[in-house]
Amino acid sequence: MSLDRSSHNYFSGLRVRISANNGRVAHITPLVPTPKLQKTALLDLLRTLQRNGVNQVFTSALRPREQVFFEELSFVIHEELLLLGHDFSTPLNAPVKKTRKGRRSDWNQMLEIDATAFSEFWRFDKPALLEAIKATPTSRIRVDADNEISGFAITGRSGRTAFLQRLAVDPRYQRTGLGRSLVADALQWSKRWFVNELLVNTQIGNIGAQKLYESMGFNKKSDGLAVLKWNAET
Ligand SMILES: CC(C)(COP(=O)(O)OP(=O)(O)OC[C@H]1O[C@@H](n2cnc3c(N)ncnc32)[C@H](O)[C@@H]1OP(=O)(O)O)[C@@H](O)C(=O)NCCC(=O)NCCS
Repeated sequence: MSLDRSSHNYFSGLRVRISANNGRVAHITPLVPTPKLQKTALLDLLRTLQRNGVNQVFTSALRPREQVFFEELSFVIHEELLLLGHDFSTPLNAPVKKTRKGRRSDWNQMLEIDATAFSEFWRFDKPALLEAIKATPTSRIRVDADNEISGFAITGRSGRTAFLQRLAVDPRYQRTGLGRSLVADALQWSKRWFVNELLVNTQIGNIGAQKLYESMGFNKKSDGLAVLKWNAET
C-alpha cells in the first residue's frame, strides 16, 4: 500500500489525506456505509500511515452508528459537532452584500482567509478545499465582490439536500454582514434548486456561527455528530 502525500488516497471505501500543514496528521472519510468497511483493511491502513510517519488520524464528522465502527478500533471522540438545518419553511432574506462566483484563481486567497478564520486543527489545505468542493455532485463557491476577497462560502447540493461545506470571513472584516450575505446566497441558491433542507455543522463552542445560523432560520438537530481521533501511541 503506497501513499501520495500531495493528494487524496483511496483504500477500501475510505478517502485518506495527509495534512499538508502537518505531515504527522491524516484525515479519513468513509465513502461507503460503515457496515461495508472492513476492520482488517482499516488496521492495514493505520499501520501504513504509521510507517509513513503519521501519528494521529482524524475522521470526518460521523454519526453515532458510524462512530461505533471506529471506536472498536481505538478511535476516541475528539470533538462533538452541532448539526443545524434550514427547511425553507421561513422566508429568506436577500444578501445585503454583493457576492460573485469564486474562481480557481481565488483559491489561494480563500485558503489565506481560511487560515486566519479557523484554528489550526480545522484549517483547510488545498486538498481539503478540493474535498469540500467535490464532496457533492454540484457545488457553488461565492466570494465577496470586493477587489481583495475577505470571505467565502462553499455550498454543495446532492439531490434534495444541500450542505454549507465551508464559511469563513477574514477576522478583520467580521461583523460587517458578509457572513450573513454568504449564507443568504447559499439559501437562495438551494431553494432555486428545490432543495428540502440545507445542513451545516459547526463546533459546539462556535457561538458566533451558531447565532448567525439560528438568526437566519436554521434549527438545531440532535444527532450526536462527532470527529474521532486515533493516536499511534495508544
Ligand atoms: C461565523 C462567521 C462566518 C460570521 O461571519 P461575519 O461576517 O462576522 O458575520 P456577520 O457580520 O454577517 O454577522 C451576522 C450575525 O452573526 C452573529 N455573530 C457573528 N459573529 C459573532 C460573534 N463573534 N459573537 C456573537 N455573534 C456573532 C451575530 O448575530 C451577527 O449579527 P450582528 O452583527 O448584527 O449582531 C465568521 O465569524 C467566521 O469566519 N468565523 C470563523 C470561521 C467559522 O466559524 N465559520 C463557520 C463554521 S461552520
